[in-house]
Amino acid sequence: MSRPEDRLIVALDYPDREPALAMARAIADEAGMFKVGLELFNSAGPGVLEELRRLGAGVFYDGKFLDIPNTVAGAASAAARMGVTMFNVHALGGLAMMQAAREGAARGAEEAGGRPPLVIAVTILTSVDRQVMNEEVGIQGEVIEAVVRLARLAREAGLDGVVCSAAEITRIKQACGDDFLTVVPGIRPEGAARDDQARVSTPRAAVEAGADYLVVGRPITRAGDPRAAAAAIVREIEI
Ligand code: C5P
Repeated sequence: MSRPEDRLIVALDYPDREPALAMARAIADEAGMFKVGLELFNSAGPGVLEELRRLGAGVFYDGKFLDIPNTVAGAASAAARMGVTMFNVHALGGLAMMQAAREGAARGAEEAGGRPPLVIAVTILTSVDRQVMNEEVGIQGEVIEAVVRLARLAREAGLDGVVCSAAEITRIKQACGDDFLTVVPGIRPEGAARDDQARVSTPRAAVEAGADYLVVGRPITRAGDPRAAAAAIVREIEI
């Protein structure tokens, strides 16, 4: 990653293809990657990944795979053949499932003659608090302990990094090493609306804490001038 804009991943959370592509075209120069989540993928279909790729930015397919290893390997291989730059899986699927994702991604990239995508783990969803994790899901202890344990497991499986909040970066880098990537949502520039995000960080603070990639949605996509909003974030992280 040589340019600050390469660190910026813009979340295209749209219910269909047209507004997502229009936004992507408007800000393509300022964004290193576009994130396609389950809403857009399931409404627009996988072709949207290719259309975004043609704009020259990378694509993060936020598909959060969680299934038996053989099925995840197949999905990972298909994602790699579609040329995504990054995709993710749930660490709760365990070591063998994450290793299968890594192997499937390598196989798919080889078949397509491209580079293997970065494979990122989701640890404990931020919508899951301690009470839900302990009492409903049955994982005991503090959320941060589970996050760090699952991040270590992802590293052991050969994955490239995790999605995490800015507050978790230090603990994860301590446990997994500086080269283990952190992909950080919940980013709000100074003065921006928090929307439904409970714990937020400014772009600068997240990068100073060690964030490798920032995931930013509404502060850019709902701004009066999305291109200017994206450019301001890029300037802020140019440190
Ligand atoms: O609009 P906003 O900047 O809040 O969008 C953040 C993006 O990051 C959304 O696509 C959201 O689903 C995703 N995300 C998140 N928190 C997580 C994981 C992913 O906000 N823990």
